[in-house]
Amino acid sequence: MFEELSLHILDIAMNSLAAGAHAVQIAVIESARRDWLILRVRDDGRGMDEAMLQRVLSHSHTSKRSRKKPIGLGLALLRQTSEMCGGTFHVRSAPDRGTTVTASMRYSHVDRPPLGDLSSTILALCAANPSVDVQFSYHSDETRFQFGSQELKQKERCSNEPRRAQKVEGKSPATSCAA
Ligand SMILES: Nc1ncnc2c1ncn2[C@@H]1O[C@H](COP(=O)(O)OP(=O)(O)OP(=O)(O)O)[C@@H](O)[C@H]1O
Ligand SMILES: [Mg+2]
Repeated sequence: MFEELSLHILDIAMNSLAAGAHAVQIAVIESARRDWLILRVRDDGRGMDEAMLQRVLSHSHTSKRSRKKPIGLGLALLRQTSEMCGGTFHVRSAPDRGTTVTASMRYSHVDRPPLGDLSSTILALCAANPSVDVQFSYHSDETRFQFGSQELKQKERCSNEPRRAQKVEGKSPATSCAA
């Protein structure tokens, strides 16, 4: 298992990218009060049929041609971590309908890995895949946080727009940024 949950998240999100996803939604919900931690990665990639899903979950298959690593480990490792930490692990998937991986664990479990550097992980994912819409949400007992990479890009474009507009005489800023 990975030492930090953020590395599990990265690994599962890499599966989504390998499956051609245009949008990847990552959710982390942690509650010390309720004693649970939930990770969810949902994508709109090519998905898996039932037979493939069963093979993957029974950890006997990888679609990778390279056999440098003996077999795909990402899903199996996360499953092991969540079950070892008193939680559950589910994958929902269908061909061309995307995939949702949900892992839960007991927040207070002694073996539960820390979340790790979640913000750097998410930012690295966004920076390395600028054409993919990465959405991230985080909920805890105290705070809520939401982030969308495409939304952020749009805001950046809009904040640069007045400067660009000043340079192009007689042209008004793009209307999509007016709101
Ligand atoms: N989100 C997904 N969409 C479509 N197929 C997926 C998805 N996630 C996993 N798969 C399929 O399940 C296989 C096993 O995934 P897993 O993450 O366990 O191992 P891997 O990606 O092959 O290798 P590793 O993660 O160890 O580098 C993948 O090779 C892929 O065929
Ligand atoms: Mg993988």
